Amino acid sequence: MSSVLVNERNHLVFAGQDVVRLAEQFGTPLYIYDEELLRANARAYRNSLAETYPPAKGRIYYAAKAFFTQAMAQLIAQEGLGLDVVSGGELATALWAGVDPQDIIFNGNNKSVDEMTAALHYGVGRFVIDSLTEIEVLDDLAGRMRRRPDVLVRVNPGVEAHTHEYVQTGITDCKFGLGATDGMALAAVDSILASTNLQLVGFHCHIGSQIFELDAYRTAVNAMAAFIKQVNLATGYFPAELDLGGGLGIRYTDNDQKMEINVAVALMSSAVKQVFQDKGWELPYLILEPGRSIVGEAGLAVYRVGVVKNIPGARTYVAVDGGMSDNPRVALYNSQYEAVVANRVRSDLRQTVTIAGKCCESGDLLAKDIELGPVQRGDLVAVFSAGAYQYSMASNYNRIPRPAVVMANHAGADLIIKRETYADLLKSDIVPERFCARQEHVVGL
Ligand SMILES: Cc1ncc(COP(=O)(O)O)c(C=O)c1O
Repeated sequence: MSSVLVNERNHLVFAGQDVVRLAEQFGTPLYIYDEELLRANARAYRNSLAETYPPAKGRIYYAAKAFFTQAMAQLIAQEGLGLDVVSGGELATALWAGVDPQDIIFNGNNKSVDEMTAALHYGVGRFVIDSLTEIEVLDDLAGRMRRRPDVLVRVNPGVEAHTHEYVQTGITDCKFGLGATDGMALAAVDSILASTNLQLVGFHCHIGSQIFELDAYRTAVNAMAAFIKQVNLATGYFPAELDLGGGLGIRYTDNDQKMEINVAVALMSSAVKQVFQDKGWELPYLILEPGRSIVGEAGLAVYRVGVVKNIPGARTYVAVDGGMSDNPRVALYNSQYEAVVANRVRSDLRQTVTIAGKCCESGDLLAKDIELGPVQRGDLVAVFSAGAYQYSMASNYNRIPRPAVVMANHAGADLIIKRETYADLLKSDIVPERFCARQEHVVGL
């Protein structure tokens, strides 16, 4: 990355801290979050919305799926943002962290009865309805629990955002949402309006992730306006709220364009204002749900090099102590990254290498064909823009414990997720008697 900070020892500095020192203190693999950048990004969203949209007429909800812990939930609440959750686990994390349930939006395409019951019990601010089935189930539960939740309908506007097909969510053939043009979303509206237990407050859409063409949002607003018109003609209903989801792209490499949060928010605000005012409609309460663009560039992944394998005529593999178990994005989306040798950042020599993980998959790569300085066993490799959809997608593949996570700022660094131990991995195993469990201590592990 062009703007890398280096100290007098030629060590990488991130979040005001010497990365080598943090790796020594907390071990590797290590995820480091820059608290000041996280707060700045959250504020950029909040302030831009306040500056470009009428006061008290909108709110930013951080999409917890990008990266979430109780500390993160608190940080987001301190910055005045709400939370978008998609599971009972994310909901529980938010509630344990002390987030006001009213500040929570519950998204998700297949919420379980238990999840819906908990969300109704605690009184989350809004449910985002993703299917006709969900309306039936939520209506029934809400009736029995004597609740009347506010709901938004997730509309699939049929907009193609130019991003990876696995993160395109606004196209018609997609597991999320109800179609604006095939009658499904309208059927959902009819059904909610007929319910005495659900309160329809508006519409939601989310067209995809890692979006660089901001015009896609304008197209989505136009498509949503067409849908609103259709609904209004058919039912007389007019939405009080419009949620445009998240999706703003971030820089993984120098080839990615730098997207300014305030420019993107201004465009979304102006698109909504323009379309609604042109039609003489009252402006909706505007909701945005960014995830990646708040946490992505605020995260750094640090690994220890174990093996450097130079295959003549092929490539040089640098194998590190993490892999797809903490970052499956390369295997999933062929994502590109940039990295440096954190303990020797500046070097006149450059080579093309591929950083590989330690998992049993050939596709277990962390950065393919990147430029790196000379690297050897024992060095530390730091991968940039590691904050979004990495730790939150981490697994225990190959029974590899998940890394530690620290939140750092100029004053210091605090552990916010402990490194998993083998005991953590074993604690959910049950060994029925017939499998003759070994009881004695396993030496050395
Ligand atoms: C409904 C919804 N809202 C918000 C987001 C956050 O998107 P991003 O992290 O790209 O901003 C997602 C991501 O998939 C989503 O599905």
